[in-house]
Amino acid sequence: MLRALTLSGSVRVDSSNSRLANAVGNKLSLSGADVTNIDLLNYPLELFSEDSEAANGEPDAAVMLAQMFAQADIIFIASPEYNGSVSPLLKNTIDWVSRQKSGPYKNATFGIGAASPGKMGGVGGLGHLREILNKLGALVIPLTLGVGSSFNAFTENGEFVEDIIARRADNLVTQLVSIRRN
Ligand SMILES: Cc1cc2nc3c(=O)[nH]c(=O)nc-3n(C[C@H](O)[C@H](O)[C@H](O)COP(=O)(O)O)c2cc1C
Repeated sequence: MLRALTLSGSVRVDSSNSRLANAVGNKLSLSGADVTNIDLLNYPLELFSEDSEAANGEPDAAVMLAQMFAQADIIFIASPEYNGSVSPLLKNTIDWVSRQKSGPYKNATFGIGAASPGKMGGVGGLGHLREILNKLGALVIPLTLGVGSSFNAFTENGEFVEDIIARRADNLVTQLVSIRRN
């Protein structure tokens, strides 16, 4: 059984990116994967500093996340667009995890998406996210998922309101379960 993680780059109450991560997680479950939706509130990490790392070592949260990344077959990241880039929370998490030696970015197939109240769905930050992940040696599938008008984009059950978005999410999940790097 494929092991999948989803991750939201926002821990805001009612975060639309958390809804997106969970909606993709549900579809991954339906496709037969064993899914864990990661809530970064449970993995608190201070702002990365090499001085702090040298003095205090690796934080438990970074070690745990890196182990989960290294053991996952699929990782879907829902990334809020902050001024055309990724959120500081997401970048900080990626940076801490990148310091771990367990090969956290070199096993899974990654999918990326974004949700935003704007019409473009926050996809303006996904180019940066792809570059960061590529730099770390990750395989990121070509298809991305942007969810615009995000406050009205999900049903109470956490499904996509618009058929066209649901179909794109299905295509993304199909790629995630079928493209393996090994
Ligand atoms: C500092 C900051 C910068 C933002 N920049 C953008 C942006 O460039 N494009 C965009 O579509 N939305 C932008 N937004 C709005 C976010 O897309 C919106 O707050 C979104 O709901 C955040 O994701 P969340 O719902 O998962 O927390 C920005 C929000 C903040 C706080």
